[in-house]
Amino acid sequence: MKTKLIAPSLLSADFGNLQRDIEMLNNSQADWLHIDVMDGRFVPNISFGFPVMKTVQQHAQKFVDVHLMIVEPEKYAEEFISAGADLVSVHYEACTHLHRTIALIQEKGAKAGVVLNPATPVLMLEDIIAEVDLVLLMSVNPGFGGQKFIENTYKKIAETKDLILSNNSTALIEVDGGVNLDNAGRLFEAGADVLVAGNAVFSSESPERTIELLKI
Ligand code: DX5
Ligand code: ZN
Repeated sequence: MKTKLIAPSLLSADFGNLQRDIEMLNNSQADWLHIDVMDGRFVPNISFGFPVMKTVQQHAQKFVDVHLMIVEPEKYAEEFISAGADLVSVHYEACTHLHRTIALIQEKGAKAGVVLNPATPVLMLEDIIAEVDLVLLMSVNPGFGGQKFIENTYKKIAETKDLILSNNSTALIEVDGGVNLDNAGRLFEAGADVLVAGNAVFSSESPERTIELLKI
């Protein structure tokens, strides 16, 4: 898979014009569509679930990247895959049986990612890195768009890269939270393969142009 991918987060889209915003992303240089699912338990916010996924499935022409910020994600992973998820990422902090959940997602035909909160060390992934398709590093505390980027993420990208290389893993590194035009270049240089951007894309005057600029 080619790197320097941009995954705009639908959380910052205009839900009254969801089809329009998805079509805008279809016609842009966005690579993936990032879908943030929040349950009000794992994170202190509730976003959306299957009805919105149905709209995404109907209109999206891009790779659908689902980020589950929910407890017991193993209960819903299969339904998200049936609703069009190409990749499902689950939080390390939300999975008692992470190995089983990763295997379940892959058996049901999707790519599987593991997500780390800002305070969870990369070394916790040592015994799962060979199995996952992606590591998603949270660069804000999950729950809300538009927060400030946590600088310690650069160190975690380097550590994740080392872990991937020393285990012959093919996992991609995705960074989520506070990504903008000022830090995107440095994040790609540090080793990120995929950058999620919500606020930076949707609150800009030209979301399509911002997506292009995030890749430079
Ligand atoms: C945060 C979500 C992010 C969020 C990113 O809990 O996981 O995907 O939408 O939004 P920005 O880019 O605005 O920080
Ligand atoms: Zn996310």
